[in-house]
Amino acid sequence: MALNKELINDIITVTSKAAISCYDFIGKNQKKNADKAATDSMRNEINKLSINGEVVIGEGELDNAPMLYIGEKLGSGGNINLDIAVDPVEGTNFVAKNLPGALSVISVAEKGNLFNAPETYMDKIAVSNKIPFEATDLDFSVEKNIKNIADSLNKDLTNITACLLDRPRHKKIIDELIRMKVKMRLISDGDVSGALMVTDDKYDVDIFLGIGGGPEGVLAASAIDAYQCKFQGRFIFDNDKEIERAKKMGIKDLNKKYDLNEIIKGDSIFCATGITSGDLVKGINLKDNKYITQTLVTHKSSNTCKIVTREDTIKT
Ligand code: FBP
Repeated sequence: MALNKELINDIITVTSKAAISCYDFIGKNQKKNADKAATDSMRNEINKLSINGEVVIGEGELDNAPMLYIGEKLGSGGNINLDIAVDPVEGTNFVAKNLPGALSVISVAEKGNLFNAPETYMDKIAVSNKIPFEATDLDFSVEKNIKNIADSLNKDLTNITACLLDRPRHKKIIDELIRMKVKMRLISDGDVSGALMVTDDKYDVDIFLGIGGGPEGVLAASAIDAYQCKFQGRFIFDNDKEIERAKKMGIKDLNKKYDLNEIIKGDSIFCATGITSGDLVKGINLKDNKYITQTLVTHKSSNTCKIVTREDTIKT
């Protein structure tokens, strides 16, 4: 098995160290520096691993991102061929402003199994595994999705919670949710976490919906897969350059709706280490000269979904 326990531990190390590397930037209002520190660390650490990795979701494209660009080869070689999706800092504003919910995130799958997504927005839904698959769809109206969820759970509409990014582009959805008297959880950033809120009752979120980053959608999908929840996404192309880029990446149908099993296939590992404390994991805690980190880890084939706490004395 290529994605074995040892690799899981290695990936936890990668996201933990990336998180620790931007500890000094928490609350310093320097989101680019925080991102750079985490990106440098991630790259260094992945390059120490005996893998043949390729970045399929990264920090931009070769022209405008010197590190961890889509297509970049990572690892020191060997027989394990991997697709790697990275988001060294998910929630750069959270780090800069010292707000809850910043994460360092990676997903890996065997070569050819992780979607090579363009850097565009994505319209997405993520839904709890308690709700039948057919009950919701990206193509249904907000009203239909919410009513079907309420019926499936035998709940009043007022007891349904929908999570979405608080953005002007979501005005129509928000107005509709207000009209239906549905409870909202409006997040300022961090829609990987937002989508993961459907994975456990403790977060009290029944559906995540709306438009956010495409790369974040792919990352969330890989974790959601391990929880057997639902995810669908459709890329949104705003200009000719984005369309051209998507076509080059092999996307033929620009309006295609992707189900989870088209975004991530086979086995996968997802790790998200907390930088600042949030719903999913605690942030970095510096105690007795040690950095204590928490990482949410999922591993599809072993049905693993757990939180791992680590102590680390070394900074990067
Ligand atoms: P960064 O950490 O890269 O700043 O992304 C934060 C984020 O909130 C994502 O979680 C989300 O997918 C995206 O930005 C939404 O983009 P926008 O802020 O343009 O609505």
